[in-house]
Amino acid sequence: MSVKSKKAPKTTHKALLKWVDKMIDMCQPDAVHWCDGSQDEADTLFEEMVQKGMCIRLNEEKRPNSYLFRSDPKDVARVEKRTFICSNSKDDAGPTNNWENPRTMRRKMKALFKGSMKGRTMYVIPFCMGPLGSPISQIGVQVTDSPYVVVNMRIMARMGDNALEALGADGFFVPCLHSVGQPLVDGKNDVPWPCDPENTYVVHFPEERTIVSYGSGYGGNALLGKKCFALRIASTMARDEGWLAEHMLILGVESPEGQKTYVTAAFPSACGKTNFAMIIPPKEMKGWKVTTVGDDIAWIKPGEDGKLYAINPEAGFFGVAPGTSYDTNPNAMESCRKDSIFTNVALTDEGDVWWEGMTEEPPAHLIDWKGEDWTPDCGRVSSHPNARFTAPIANCPCVDEAFEAPEGVPIKAFIYGGRRMNDIPLVFQSLSWSHGVYLGATMGSEQTAAAEGQVGALRRDPMAMLPFCGYHMGDYFRHYLKVGKRLKETPRIFHVNWFRKDKEGNFMWPGFGQNMRVLKWIVERANGHARSQQSPLGWIPSYEDIDWSGLDYSEEDWNALMEIDRERIKGQVLQHQALFLELSEHLPSELIFERELLICRL
Ligand code: GTP
Ligand code: SPV
Ligand code: MN
Repeated sequence: MSVKSKKAPKTTHKALLKWVDKMIDMCQPDAVHWCDGSQDEADTLFEEMVQKGMCIRLNEEKRPNSYLFRSDPKDVARVEKRTFICSNSKDDAGPTNNWENPRTMRRKMKALFKGSMKGRTMYVIPFCMGPLGSPISQIGVQVTDSPYVVVNMRIMARMGDNALEALGADGFFVPCLHSVGQPLVDGKNDVPWPCDPENTYVVHFPEERTIVSYGSGYGGNALLGKKCFALRIASTMARDEGWLAEHMLILGVESPEGQKTYVTAAFPSACGKTNFAMIIPPKEMKGWKVTTVGDDIAWIKPGEDGKLYAINPEAGFFGVAPGTSYDTNPNAMESCRKDSIFTNVALTDEGDVWWEGMTEEPPAHLIDWKGEDWTPDCGRVSSHPNARFTAPIANCPCVDEAFEAPEGVPIKAFIYGGRRMNDIPLVFQSLSWSHGVYLGATMGSEQTAAAEGQVGALRRDPMAMLPFCGYHMGDYFRHYLKVGKRLKETPRIFHVNWFRKDKEGNFMWPGFGQNMRVLKWIVERANGHARSQQSPLGWIPSYEDIDWSGLDYSEEDWNALMEIDRERIKGQVLQHQALFLELSEHLPSELIFERELLICRL
């Protein structure tokens, strides 16, 4: 090693040491730092970043041990256009992913990464996705030139010496290469948020199980354990090994009788997973309690008993800040009360954070996410719509007791849902596993600011995995059906929509905590003791089947909310057909039959 090393690696893993040496040769950093994951290390990094003007330390009384970062305005969300699945065959990536020949892409990446870390420190981050010691967990190692990534990874994953120990001398790991793409050469000064938006690439080599990401420092583009590893690479591992890697929250529901039921739910980005994962039941629903295992990703494996068990591969929340408040989600507010990182929210005059929706009355003065003065009448939002908090799950008041359980939690129900202002009723249950897979496969949602694209446009987003599936979507559906067939007990599958609007554009359902009424029906159905009626879409509750204690919601409103307009659903079926045509070469015939059956029911 020709470069100055701040700390000697605490590993004898030959393949890892060799890979890191190769990355050093290519990226040419000034120094190399193996991360141990300690509090000391994080404190030092934060201190350095404060000194350099990369972040602000928040008021120690109001927001202990917490920091605010402002990104480059061109680097604020995942970039789906620049996300690639480089399987050997284009056919394996399928029509919903960007593809490039892996050799061509490697050459392109080599050119970009050559000298990309000049003038910077390369951080080597060993991390474990999932509880340390769990048979379902996986190890990755990310090298990056972003200290922001290091401090975020420390919250989002089990990071440092523990992970290195779990890897051992010859364990399997996923190599994750990352650079913000702004070498400090030719006397160039550093900036608060280095990045290279024009040359951003987020690249996956699924056969080799490797990840390469260049040019962005934001969220899923840069915290490579999250979407890149835990979803795109893990979904291909899951396909090969017979399990599922899903864009799902995991929650536990305890009934007044003390019966515990775990369910997962897949909603697209910024559609309410974090809120639902930490839902607080209305106080009139006495004795019902919800606990959180995860808010974004679930790794789900068949156990020896033929049931499905899930773990959360993450250790933190990377949650959407705007809209989060003590009214809508007190558990999320408590989670980021301390030890947290905030990105692209506003700064108050007291040195705390604020964002749209946090309080009813905005503060009279703020510094906005771009660092400019802000007043309530200035006509701009103070925080970016995809502003996020990074908070340890351990801070969450409703964290589930089995959050660290190596064997995971048994799953009784899968819930799918999207943001649908029209047509789709509040809740319905699939008639069978394959009908449930059809419901997931044909899910649609109005796009949010969590990624680039036209906000509000309706797109098909199968199982909320459109941007996250590491292989052909048709094969993914086939895999789902296969996993179901091998189980002794399949979870019941449901579809929900909190977002239906009336003619005036108002939400027809109060949502948030009130969603507990729907969750209660779902859990009781999954346990085989709640009533329902048949409808063309599946099993639905009638007004009497829902617990209304403490909520004044009329039967008339309910009927409007649950209305199934057969003509409009036929229009939806045509859109399902468009997706199926796109995937036709790999589409399992079961889904075509399910579509025919739906048409018959209509
Ligand atoms: P990612 O982290 O991007 O995967 O998203 P997520 O699904 O965890 O998103 P999150 O829970 O942060 O969603 C936030 C958005 O959903 C905010 O705009 C909330 O106001 C909105 N939201 C959440 N639950 C509800 C609900 O029950 N009703 C309505 N109308 N909006 C909701
Ligand atoms: C999402 O977009 O679904 C997220 C945020 O959870 S990010 O990690 O940036 O992908
Ligand atoms: Mn997500």
